[in-house]
Amino acid sequence: MTIHQTAPGLAGYLDSIHLCDCIEGMQQLPDASIDIIVTSPPYNIGKPYNSHNDTMPRDEYLAWMGRVAAEARRILKDEGSFFLNVGGKPSDQWIPYDVLARFREHYELQNVIHWVKSVAIEKADIGAYDGITKDVAVGHYQPVNSRRYLSQCHEHLFHFTKNGGVPLDKLGVGVKYQDKSNIGRWKQADRDLRDRGNVWFIPYRTIRTSRPHPASFPEKLPEMCIRLHGFDEKTVVCDPFMGIGSTALAAITLNTRYIGYEIDPAYRECACERIRERLEYQK
Ligand SMILES: C[S@@+](CC[C@H](N)C(=O)[O-])C[C@H]1O[C@@H](n2cnc3c(N)ncnc32)[C@H](O)[C@@H]1O
Repeated sequence: MTIHQTAPGLAGYLDSIHLCDCIEGMQQLPDASIDIIVTSPPYNIGKPYNSHNDTMPRDEYLAWMGRVAAEARRILKDEGSFFLNVGGKPSDQWIPYDVLARFREHYELQNVIHWVKSVAIEKADIGAYDGITKDVAVGHYQPVNSRRYLSQCHEHLFHFTKNGGVPLDKLGVGVKYQDKSNIGRWKQADRDLRDRGNVWFIPYRTIRTSRPHPASFPEKLPEMCIRLHGFDEKTVVCDPFMGIGSTALAAITLNTRYIGYEIDPAYRECACERIRERLEYQK
């Protein structure tokens, strides 16, 4: 397992969500000091954020994403991982690919993960599986009212590294074998876990109250990214667009350190409240 060393000069910034622009915030951090970056930036699709204008001219938006990529690269360790969640909208499918092109100037694209929010599986397609006795449709998505466009049931999760060769803890997000006779059959199959691959089904939780944020991701998403990279208690996870704190909560669950930035005071306050509750619960 990789042993992470906390970089000198980080101490004053750890385990906080800083109320500021993320580029200005990251500029204060030392070079090569962060192990894992997990984030979801605004997609520029007109989401009603409190403070951020999500309808920037496209060129301006992509230039901004390029600046975020460059500053994030500076603070990322050479063996670090940057997981970027980005989606589009039915009428503008290019967004993730345009952002990807800006990141290409700074990173190797080591993996592309598909975050699946909803999926339908017909019983006839899967044959005899224990417990699956009928067609299955699971997860949530926002249905699109259109004859042209399909509803968006997945988003991209790009895994960038500096050199394309960062070893991962694949079994950290492994899945149990369906057929237990596979355990012990190969050298690498020494326990009841196999490689999950790059399709991750992570549904939103059903909530009955109104959402405090228009575009948060489930806490399980950053948690799986941290597990995949590998972590210990000295690992530092940074989320430049912290929103209501999902990445910080994942870091707390896994007992790693975190640093976040959020431009909106109300979202930051919501994140801090969720963190306080979680720490209280974990006592
Ligand atoms: C897609 S949301 C991230 C949500 C987060 N992943 C969560 O689960 O709560 C993007 C966030 O970036 C924030 N934001 C926009 N511009 C920013 C900037 N320049 N610096 C820091 N945060 C910013 C927005 O207020 C918004 O909360």
